[in-house]
Amino acid sequence: MNLQIKSFEEYQEVYQRSVEKPEEFWAGIADHFYWRRKWNNVLDWNFKEPKIKWFEGAKLNITENCLDRHIYQLGDKPAIVWEPNDPNEAHRVLTYKQLLEKVEQFSNVLKNNGVRKGDRVCIYLPMVPELVITVLACARIGAIHSVVFGGFSAQSIADRINDTGCRLVITSDGGYRGTKTIELKSIVDDALVQCKAVDRVIVLTRTRTPVSMIKGRDVWWEDEIKKVETQGNPTCPAEEMDAEDMLFILYTSGSTGKPKGVVHTCGGYMVYTGYTFANVFQYQPDEVYFCTADIGWITGHSYIIYGPLSQGATSLMFEGVPTWPDAGRFWDIVEKHKVNILYTAPTAIRSLMASGDSYVDGKDLSSIRKLGSVGEPINEEAWNWYNEKIGKGKAPIVDTWWQTENGGILISPIAGITPTIPSYAMLPLPGIQPVLVDEKGNELQGNNVSGNLCIKFPWPGMIRTTYGDHERCRQTYFAAYENMYFTGDGCLRNEDGYYRITGRVDDVLNVSGHRIGTAELENAINMHSDVVESAIVGYPHPVKGQGIYAYVIASGHHVDEDLTRRDINQTVSRIIGAIAKPDKIQFVSGLPKTRSGKIMRRILRKIAEGDTSNLGDITTLLDPGVVEEIKAGAEKLR
Ligand code: WTA
Repeated sequence: MNLQIKSFEEYQEVYQRSVEKPEEFWAGIADHFYWRRKWNNVLDWNFKEPKIKWFEGAKLNITENCLDRHIYQLGDKPAIVWEPNDPNEAHRVLTYKQLLEKVEQFSNVLKNNGVRKGDRVCIYLPMVPELVITVLACARIGAIHSVVFGGFSAQSIADRINDTGCRLVITSDGGYRGTKTIELKSIVDDALVQCKAVDRVIVLTRTRTPVSMIKGRDVWWEDEIKKVETQGNPTCPAEEMDAEDMLFILYTSGSTGKPKGVVHTCGGYMVYTGYTFANVFQYQPDEVYFCTADIGWITGHSYIIYGPLSQGATSLMFEGVPTWPDAGRFWDIVEKHKVNILYTAPTAIRSLMASGDSYVDGKDLSSIRKLGSVGEPINEEAWNWYNEKIGKGKAPIVDTWWQTENGGILISPIAGITPTIPSYAMLPLPGIQPVLVDEKGNELQGNNVSGNLCIKFPWPGMIRTTYGDHERCRQTYFAAYENMYFTGDGCLRNEDGYYRITGRVDDVLNVSGHRIGTAELENAINMHSDVVESAIVGYPHPVKGQGIYAYVIASGHHVDEDLTRRDINQTVSRIIGAIAKPDKIQFVSGLPKTRSGKIMRRILRKIAEGDTSNLGDITTLLDPGVVEEIKAGAEKLR
């Protein structure tokens, strides 16, 4: 069996087989990877506990698949091409051989600093090649990485560090993003005030921003590398891992409480990211592939690092932002590095589209063969612009739907093979069994139906647990509907059986492709001393997809609304990070609540959307009068 599907007929045939004989199908896929020892059992599962075990008994190390196994044939092929923030700084290329050397070297640095198999390591780095090196070095020695996105606050880092119980953090003095320098080490210092268990911080030099290095705790990356060089131990054999050993933890927001640590394991995640990368993008050996995501999110984990590298691809990573020095930066990068496959987010497409075609016109985009979209629903206008302006009508667009919890892409066209329709993710990949259910959990049969999207059979890349709290994993994903994984997304299956994701049906917002939990954000806002209570809803935003709308009841003190708004934003930046700052804050005297005290978000959502004509039944509210006041206030904010 081939790893890559080559035609639509083959897709249909393989899909059928993957449903009829899933274990046989996945064993065939897994055969394309390097295992030190093969599995005894392909799959053992139930969604009740849940228990999900793939390739039990198998032994492997994912870095042997991403690096060692390519050395013989692809040793001199670029593995990572790094484009810096500043276009005047030289770009860097790491071949597979060089990347392996660097990973081995840093693996020894980690060992010298006491990291052992099973230890958790927190990584807070900018988008530089050393981030890839660090992630892979952890995987090589069997340490569990927990990457924290550079836009999160000290408080968020502290929460994540304490939840994983890690004692080592890897960061840099600073990071460049457009005209800004982010002082990463200083943010880590603030976090560590709350993390007594951390006794080692490795600091990479990037911006040479002044940093406070604490004796006995903080060490320079460069010094640690020198130590390894003097010790003369350049190589580091890969640790033998069990297929179900943890590979990493990545935190993501849900509808309740604090972010949870999604756990992925070595064998299944490796197979799933490699399989989906090879198929969805139809990667060819000579192609340059550019995913614009940040490695702090799942897309970067799966489709900058693990998926592409396990397939011997050239993966381009970019340190900066799409709009600096101007809104033509992506297209300059495409031209400079002759990018063949571009994978980006609708929010970036919309923002570049809004900047005007003058930034695209005249750029040589002739290398582009395939385009991808990820992270949020893509509207037709953006899809069409992407198709015409960037793909020149010749590059298939894959609108890939998936989640942090999924490990890799679940529903998506296969580039050049599956037909495409703007804003449709089209069809499940072989091995994925989506179902739509109604509120009561009844499976909706046939076509032309809408419902909640669930998956009824496991796949190798799926979440195994939420770190330190298995019950929370069960509650969140497996309790809503019996024997199904619930995605939290709504979905339409049209008359031809094609899938269109319509967005979250729970209280999770998707702002510029970033998941924001409303409860988490409300908690942050409520920490401000002048705030009595708050309610967050999303509203349609032309660039971000969804904007954040906050209804806030403030206490007597506040006299200047604008000042209080700024204070609230500052509070959110401190507690979560600037990415969660509300776009609009409306002060209200009360919130629409039912007699049992539940906030009726439906009403708040409609008002935020500016659609107040039909608010539905409000007679069950404790105080229906508050609705008129909120409507009037919203009008003034618009
Ligand atoms: C949304 C990102 C529509 C969806 C990989 C999902 C999408 C959430 C798409 C997961 C898409 C992701 N079309 N919606 N192609 N891709 N989403 O965990 O609501 O950051 O539940 O993973 O993003 O976001 P996450």
